[in-house]
Amino acid sequence: MKVGFLQFQPILGDVEENIDKISRIIRTTDSFDLIVIPELANSGYIFADRKELENISEEIPSGFFVNKLIELAKEKDGYIVSGICEKKGDLFFNSSVLLGPEGYVSKYRKIHLFDREKLFFEPGDGPFKVYDVRGMKVGLLICWDWIFPEATRSLAIQGMDVLAHSVNLVLSFCQNAMSTRSIENQIYAITSNRIGKETNQEFKLHFKGNSQVTSPDGKRLVQASTDKEESHIVSIDLEKSRNKWLSDRNHIFKDRRPNMYKLLIEEEEF
Ligand code: ACM
Repeated sequence: MKVGFLQFQPILGDVEENIDKISRIIRTTDSFDLIVIPELANSGYIFADRKELENISEEIPSGFFVNKLIELAKEKDGYIVSGICEKKGDLFFNSSVLLGPEGYVSKYRKIHLFDREKLFFEPGDGPFKVYDVRGMKVGLLICWDWIFPEATRSLAIQGMDVLAHSVNLVLSFCQNAMSTRSIENQIYAITSNRIGKETNQEFKLHFKGNSQVTSPDGKRLVQASTDKEESHIVSIDLEKSRNKWLSDRNHIFKDRRPNMYKLLIEEEEF
């Protein structure tokens, strides 16, 4: 299977320019079974006011951005996961969509919102689900979901081979942590980050790329630059993500002791 990422700099509020950029890059990308595009790829990231989301978000799957991505999925004969600013009635979600040559497949709404996202978006309510993409089991998460190992685990115990992780990283921990997520679940993880500086009123962020694919042994199969628009596709071996034995006597899922983890599913007050 051939999987990878597209790293680019979305322009805040310019959906047409963003899909044009994505189209230009994807058309020069090697053929793929699955490509992952960053979080909020239609809209950009920094909102100063909730009203700004009205014109740059869209309903899924009827919206402009999703339909342009479906055209690209058909043209490339591959599947696309992309972050998207979703509108549903009066509410907004930080979502990602899974699309293929046959059209719209599904969406995921970010469950763990980061910082000022909480001012604009509703948190998603799952469920965590894996999808069959040409025999490969794919799960979707968005950015800050990475810091909750329970999120990746919830997908991995359903047989996920590949995590499609659309991100707009503002801290520097994620890329290293995804090696651990890959090892502890024996999965491939595709982390697709954006680049560039974004400013809106007094708010400023610098996104530093380094999109990557990690393998079940925790190695990076490829990593992008900190500041260039680029795409990379690598070959992966599903036998590796399906072998959960790490020694003759250690199977990472059979050895789990859920009875010992009961505190994890209680709603504690912190
Ligand atoms: C993030 O969740 N975009 C940091």
